[in-house]
Amino acid sequence: MDKLLVDEKDITLLKESEMLHGSYQEMVEMRLLYNAAIKQISTKLEILNEEFNVKNARNPIHHVEARLKSPQSIIKKLNLKSMDISITSAKQLNDIAGIRVVCGYLDDVYNIAEMLLMQTDIKLVKYQDYIKQPNFNGYRSLHLDIEVPVFLSDHIENVIVEVQIRTVAQDFWASLEHDIRYKSDKYIPQDICDDMLQSANEIAEIDLKMQETFKKIQNI
Ligand code: GTP
Ligand code: MG
Repeated sequence: MDKLLVDEKDITLLKESEMLHGSYQEMVEMRLLYNAAIKQISTKLEILNEEFNVKNARNPIHHVEARLKSPQSIIKKLNLKSMDISITSAKQLNDIAGIRVVCGYLDDVYNIAEMLLMQTDIKLVKYQDYIKQPNFNGYRSLHLDIEVPVFLSDHIENVIVEVQIRTVAQDFWASLEHDIRYKSDKYIPQDICDDMLQSANEIAEIDLKMQETFKKIQNI
């Protein structure tokens, strides 16, 4: 039976479901599912950070950001991939649920990734190491698309979450570059691209130096 719509949240969900040619109920269920997956991965990261702190007296994770992809962004991506505009095809995208883990040092990035992937309920779907092989523009980050089981009342759903793990320095560059270029439709002159690439490379050198300095401090 249809639910009587009462508040702003219901109206927003109804509009969002209409954009994706789905029902209100489908939209509520999709959000619940991806939110649940985000909560599970966030809790896992929190536990790893706390355990590391107890054992090593410092936090490898500086902060974590999470987001659910908006219907507008989903539609844009589905169009780009020439896919149907529907909730079913939206679920084929790997980044409906996105988590960004910002770490102190480069070693932390790989340690967190390894600890997460070791967990038996996590399945790796796609591994992209943009630190070892940076993007053409200098973008650096470790991307893991992972599948996590979400236990519902009568069945289990495997949900994909895109996890981006990077250092504070890489995050600093990526967030500025994102605004400047990644989401802009404007033409960016080559000299600005060159400057951005140079900054990314300099930041990468500083990251390596900071990692070395930290190792030296540990050995004092
Ligand atoms: P899809 O995930 O299917 O779109 O393709 P893909 O897996 O090749 O994309 P990828 O995982 O490489 O990128 C996904 C996300 O990473 C983007 O939405 C951005 O958040 C981030 N990203 C990738 N490349 C860049 C970049 O050059 N600059 C910035 N700032 N972010 C980037
Ligand atoms: Mg991706």
